[in-house]
Amino acid sequence: MTAADLRNKYLEFFEKKGHKIIPSASLVPEHDPTVLFTTAGMHPLVPFLLGENHPEGKRLVNVQKCLRTDDIEDVGDNWHNTFFEMLGNWSLGDYWKEEAISWSFEFLTKELGLDQNRISVTVFGGDSEVPGVSADEESVAIWKKLGIPEERIYRLGSEDNWWGPVGDTGPCGPDTEMFYDTGASEHGKVCRPGENCGKYTEIWNDVFMEYNRTKDGKFEKLNQKNVDTGMGVERVLGVLQGRDNIYETELFSRALSLIKTLSPNYKETSARIVADHLRAATFLLADQVIPSNSERGYVLRRLIRRAIRHGRLLEINGNFISKIAAEFIETYKDQYKELTTFSEEIFAELNKEEGKFQKALTSGLREFEKLGTNISGQDVFRLYESYGFPPELTFELVAEKGIRVDHKQFEMELKRHQEVSRAGMEKKFSGGLADHSEITVRGHTATHLLHQALRDVLGDSVYQTGSNITPERIRFDFSYKEKPTVEQLKKVEEVVNEKIKLNLPVKKEMLSQEEADRKGAIGLFKQKYSDKVSIYEIGDYSVEYCGGPHVDHTSLVGKFRIIKEESVSAGQRRIKAVLE
Ligand code: SER
Repeated sequence: MTAADLRNKYLEFFEKKGHKIIPSASLVPEHDPTVLFTTAGMHPLVPFLLGENHPEGKRLVNVQKCLRTDDIEDVGDNWHNTFFEMLGNWSLGDYWKEEAISWSFEFLTKELGLDQNRISVTVFGGDSEVPGVSADEESVAIWKKLGIPEERIYRLGSEDNWWGPVGDTGPCGPDTEMFYDTGASEHGKVCRPGENCGKYTEIWNDVFMEYNRTKDGKFEKLNQKNVDTGMGVERVLGVLQGRDNIYETELFSRALSLIKTLSPNYKETSARIVADHLRAATFLLADQVIPSNSERGYVLRRLIRRAIRHGRLLEINGNFISKIAAEFIETYKDQYKELTTFSEEIFAELNKEEGKFQKALTSGLREFEKLGTNISGQDVFRLYESYGFPPELTFELVAEKGIRVDHKQFEMELKRHQEVSRAGMEKKFSGGLADHSEITVRGHTATHLLHQALRDVLGDSVYQTGSNITPERIRFDFSYKEKPTVEQLKKVEEVVNEKIKLNLPVKKEMLSQEEADRKGAIGLFKQKYSDKVSIYEIGDYSVEYCGGPHVDHTSLVGKFRIIKEESVSAGQRRIKAVLE
């Protein structure tokens, strides 16, 4: 079974069970400034898990792009990735444990043909960390009814069997996880599902989200009982194809064979790290993240630099990272159109970043040579902080040259630095989860007006490439080859304010893709699967693909003011604006 077969089978299976197929959201949470990346399929659905009505109904299914960096040190082993695709189905206050678990089991055993004797499960066994929530014996009973014997059902605590919330607050609940017994364990180690010995591969997680974690750490019942499930495409594919790792599937074959060709000193772990990190970087760039020294851009920079560093260990000569990205674009282009739409920008950014890093390496090396034969921990840290020279590289060089270095002192210096930056991050991201305040909804309507006004003033080559709205400001990214003039920006601002004053009605419609196209709907990415697409019309001025929410009438938007316009990368501009 190929990845494409697996995705299709999953979507079709749940479609038959009454689910609507929804598109993958961006890796950059669109309406949630409080977290860096989309880490699970449920993340873009938080408002609906909390009770808002979803335009597609109560049963949803999709394939979602996800990125998690908490396991980055494990990448290179058999089963961990930073970027991955998650298959997910949701019940928004509709079906509950019986259906969710039975359908998971039916899909695994009937549709995918996995041997039920090799499936073990874990369930929530109760835990003082989550006071007032009892052990999930209901799920145990369902598993038993389906034929999973007591000895393959593990009752574990909240560390293993409680999911969410994504940030500090939000929907969460006990879960039941499904594991496939690969038969092999590392060096004959004995372990249970959830422990990393290579024997059990986690393939699916059914979360029963009936709680909301509040700011003061309490778990209160939600008004509706939700189901949120997640199954990793890479892992299941590995299992289905009889592999003991994810890298031998076709998702990695093109990239890894190129790495093999380019490397005169091939090492499996480094090659996997290069492949994993550049795949993640390619998808992040396609979602308009640009390498930088803070937040998302910093994570992207770190992934790219780590990949280059491992490329060096593989002794790959010259610039290579955009060549690997090209292989991933080829592998994924049918499923994710944004990769081809933005391929030129992806290559340009990767080449630029590779050039910068090579420069950092050259100047870092020059500084390193000056340090002599006793290198302090602070020296290693200074090379890292001032020149971007990776500490691992310093340690490699000192080992080669027999120089002594104070590792302990470096670790202390690094820890001090991490604590300072972590405190900063926590402060920044402490605002709670998805923001659906009135001002953000107003901002959302303003971006539709801005999008159309930019097209009116600058021409139809303008299209939106990203947006991020917080209560403080609107950020809108778009494609345009030149710098708009001050007069043009003034005109855009005027048009938006004029439409606001006209108090145009904002109307949502569910149309077929053809009808929406006929109406000239514009928008970021068209939804790929649904029969019906959701569009918003603002009077007769703007028609745009969008799930909402929006204000009812434009006068509610307030006064719109552009505060900044800048370039983000070749052919990409960014406007920052406020509502007054
Ligand atoms: N949110 C759960 C997970 O990420 C299930 O989708 O595992």
